[in-house]
This record gives sequence, C-alpha cells and structure tokens, in this order.
Amino acid sequence: MSLKEVFESQPERRYVMFGGKGGLGKTTLSATCALWLASHGKRVLLFSVDPQASLSDIFERDIFGKGPVPIIENLWAQEVDADRRIREYQDEIRKKILDMYGFDRVPEEIDSYIAAASAEPAMEESAIFDAVVDIIVQGDYDYYIYDLVPLGHALYYLSMAKVYDEWINKITKLREEMRQYDEVAATLRGQEAAEEDRILEELLYIKRRINTSSEILTDKRRTAFFFVLVPEEIIIQDTLKAAELFSRFDVPISGYVVNRVLPDSLGQANIPAYLRNRHSMQQKHLQQIRSGFGKEILAYVPEMERDITGIPMIEKLAERLFT
Ligand SMILES: Nc1ncnc2c1ncn2[C@@H]1O[C@H](COP(=O)(O)OP(=O)(O)OP(=O)(O)O)[C@@H](O)[C@H]1O
Ligand SMILES: [Mg+2]
Repeated sequence: MSLKEVFESQPERRYVMFGGKGGLGKTTLSATCALWLASHGKRVLLFSVDPQASLSDIFERDIFGKGPVPIIENLWAQEVDADRRIREYQDEIRKKILDMYGFDRVPEEIDSYIAAASAEPAMEESAIFDAVVDIIVQGDYDYYIYDLVPLGHALYYLSMAKVYDEWINKITKLREEMRQYDEVAATLRGQEAAEEDRILEELLYIKRRINTSSEILTDKRRTAFFFVLVPEEIIIQDTLKAAELFSRFDVPISGYVVNRVLPDSLGQANIPAYLRNRHSMQQKHLQQIRSGFGKEILAYVPEMERDITGIPMIEKLAERLFT
C-alpha cells in the first residue's frame, strides 16, 4: 500500500502522527500530508507543541502561540506555546483551590507548593498533554495532524496516558470510598447529605478527557501513526528497536516512510566518485530497509534539491509523494 492509498482507503483515520528520531523529516512530512489533504478538500489542523516553532519555520510565518492560523484554504496550523500553557495551568489550579476550599487568597504554603510542583517535568508534560487533549477532542476538523517531537518523547507521551489513567483510577476510587464515610457521618450528625463532591467531579472529568484522548491516539481504526526513517545504518537499527518498544506499549504503527532517498538516475549518471559512493551506500541500506520492513513501507521520499520551506516547495514534495 502507498501513503495515498492509506488515506484514501481509510478515511475514518482522522488523527495522523509522524514519529521518528530527531531531524529525519517528521515536520516536513506532516506539513506535506496536511497540504495534500487540504488541497483535496479536507479541513485539516496541523499542530505541534514543539517549542522550536518548526511549523513557523516551514510555513515561513510566525504562528507560535497564536491559535489555529489559516495557511491555505482548508488548512490551519497551530503551535501551542507550552510555557504559557504551564502558567495558565498553574493559575487554573490556584483558582480551583480557592473555589474548592472557599479561601479568598491562596495560602502561602500552597502557593509555593504549586510553584515547586510546576517546575517538575511531569507538570510540564501534563500541561502539554492537556493542550493536546483540548485540540483533539474538539472535532471540528476532518483531519488532525500532530507534528511530534523526537522519538523518546513521543513514546513517553503516548505511554503517559496509561500511567495517568492508573493514577486517576486509584485516586477516584479512594475518593469514592471516602465519600461513603462522609455521608454516613453526615447522617449520624443529622445533617443533610454532604454537598456534591467537587474534587471527585474534577477527577472524573480529567479521567474522561484522558481516556478519550488516549483511546483516540492508540486506536488503529481512528489514528494513523507513521514512522519516518532514512537509509542510514544507525537509523535503521534504532527504528527496528523503536518499533519493538512501541508495540510493547500497544501503540500501533501504521507503516513506515523512507525519507531522503537519492534519485535512482544518479546511479547511471557520470558523477564524482564521492557521490557515486554515497549512492551505492544508500542502495545497500535501502535493501536492508526492504528486508527489515517489507510491505510496511508506504513511501520513498526523494532527497530534494534544497530544504523544504514555503508552500511551493511543500507542494512540490507533495506531488512527488502522492502521485
Ligand atoms: N526529502 C527532503 N529533501 C530535502 N530536505 C529535507 C527532506 N526532508 C527533510 N528535509 C530537511 O531536513 C531538515 C529536518 O527536517 P524536519 O524538520 O522535517 O525533521 P523533524 O523530524 O521534524 O526534526 P525534529 O526532530 O527536530 O522535529 C529540514 O531542514 C528539512 O527541510
Ligand atoms: Mg519537527
């Protein structure tokens, strides 16, 4: 199957991700697919949480932290400002604490606790996770293309849904048990049953959101998770290892895209020895890729004459990739 056939034959897979090691072409391919789908009349949101602002780079305009920005007809791109998101997250937690406990000011100990907790990488992840959940549960677009940050991170992100889920399950259960005692105590004291439990409600709300998003992102029927590699020894080895790791986390991989393939015609041309060497080395690695990944390879993407930036260049690549 080709990448084009995957999109055409499985229109219900509306969530698209490209994973892979750093710098192999995840952003390039995400943008290329987004542009191609949009030019075929699909409403597409291409988004990223990468502080590198690589979507701004590829579209050659500043879209960082500006919400969904229209790029061409049917295509919107969004770069989440993760730092701002974390600050908003802190404020939200403060506000919730005030509401829940009826304080008019967050006590100093709690405030410094929130500040310390937010410095944790986990807090950052959770703020980013929340931003992604917000984006994918809205359902206004035909396609959501998530331009992932490099490999390790993506794996962490995808597996985190599971960790979160377990954690929240535990707390919710505890909280439910506690509530029974609260109710008994209230009845014994002759009071009305305890007022609605806002903490439990909040937890259940978060749980529903996380469930929805992790279900979406790991559901092969709704999500296409492609892997990018290039014909180089170390990348091939790493990709084989990653594939194993992902399958252990139950993250289904929908196929592989081989990027930066030198044109075949180079082999026949009268070229300098240096280039000829590079070309025959690549041929060897391509052979290795074919035997390692076989039918799971969906596309070979040519090495272009320059970096892929700006709409005309992305269009040019889309033409090579989809026709
Ligand atoms: N087929 C190609 N031909 C020419 N240049 C390419 C090709 N694919 C990618 N590039 C260039 O390689 C660089 C890295 O690509 P890209 O930013 O898409 O990688 P990435 O996987 O998103 O990187 P990161 O892991 O940092 O997010 C960019 O400058 C891009 O223009
Ligand atoms: Mg990128």
